[in-house]
Amino acid sequence: MTDRKRVFSGIQPTGNIHIGNYIGAGRNYVTLQEEYETIYCVVDLHAMTVPYDPKDLRAGKINVAKMLLAMGIDPERSLLYNQSDVPHHAELSWILGTITSMGQLERMTQYKEKSDKSGQNLGLFAYPVLMAADILVHRVHAVPVGEDQTQHLELTRDLAERFNHRFGELFPVPEAIVPEVGARIMSLTDPTSKMSKSDPSPRSRVHLTDTPDEIASKIRSAVTDAGAEVAYEPEQKPGISNLLEIFSAFDGRSIDELVAEYRDSGYGVFKSAVADAVIEGLRPLQEAYSALSDDEVHRVMEASAEKARDMASETMRLVREAVGLD
Ligand code: TYM
Repeated sequence: MTDRKRVFSGIQPTGNIHIGNYIGAGRNYVTLQEEYETIYCVVDLHAMTVPYDPKDLRAGKINVAKMLLAMGIDPERSLLYNQSDVPHHAELSWILGTITSMGQLERMTQYKEKSDKSGQNLGLFAYPVLMAADILVHRVHAVPVGEDQTQHLELTRDLAERFNHRFGELFPVPEAIVPEVGARIMSLTDPTSKMSKSDPSPRSRVHLTDTPDEIASKIRSAVTDAGAEVAYEPEQKPGISNLLEIFSAFDGRSIDELVAEYRDSGYGVFKSAVADAVIEGLRPLQEAYSALSDDEVHRVMEASAEKARDMASETMRLVREAVGLD
């Protein structure tokens, strides 16, 4: 491998990927390939922490991986594999669990939200520790994520520091890479809550595989705010501000430029323009997605997993030595 700095990120194979995942994280996965040694993972073990159907998990893994390849993850430059194919993640998670306080895990907002919805289990409670292990097992420097994962990243940084302090410097303390615009894309049906794969209403989000008609219809019916002016005011105008973030992500112009053009156009015209930008922006991804076969995806995932196992086993050799398991 090279001596470039390393990046790692993970995505859950639950449901369909939506434009929030893409804007908040996926786009960065692709651009970071220019500068870093990049490692991306379909985190199937994490997806088991809420009730699921094994059939859906199996299909979800391949679909998410295919979408990441369609976005532009280049197997020549990046690793892309299934978390469960590299058992070192789970092994390191156990070790990190022994230096994690219960109180810290109890404060995780995602744990509170998910356990309220789906019930508690040990895996869900320990979820952030496995996420820390994902990142630390590759000794990476940076982690592209949306805003909802920054608390987990803080825990990861804490665990890296605690481990280094207790057992000797082994882990870089990783930085979160969060986009300036679009770190928290909101639901189209309720712009005060996050766009989420687990929202029961599919109209709350645009999936990357939605047809142009579906996209246009979801955006046209997105909940917007009182008044008629197109302005970026996340507190007063959460609906329009969210659409501006989505528009800017797909169109490439800044929010200021878009506001200057659409301020007085009326919500209807503005929403049509947002829909067109999303449809056009997703078109190349959708074409690449349908051109990929499941076999191709399997081949990439298997070759990557082999390399990832080599890299992770070197970290685990050092960890075992540091903690006295050698
Ligand atoms: P997941 O699968 O929920 O989401 C994948 C990525 O998409 C981002 N994201 C969003 N960004 C902006 N607006 C939204 N509405 C939105 N919804 C999701 C997420 O922040 C994430 O970056 N715990 C992680 C998976 C994970 C991981 C890791 C990530 C496991 N191990 C190690 C980084 C490093 C998760 O559930 O992501």
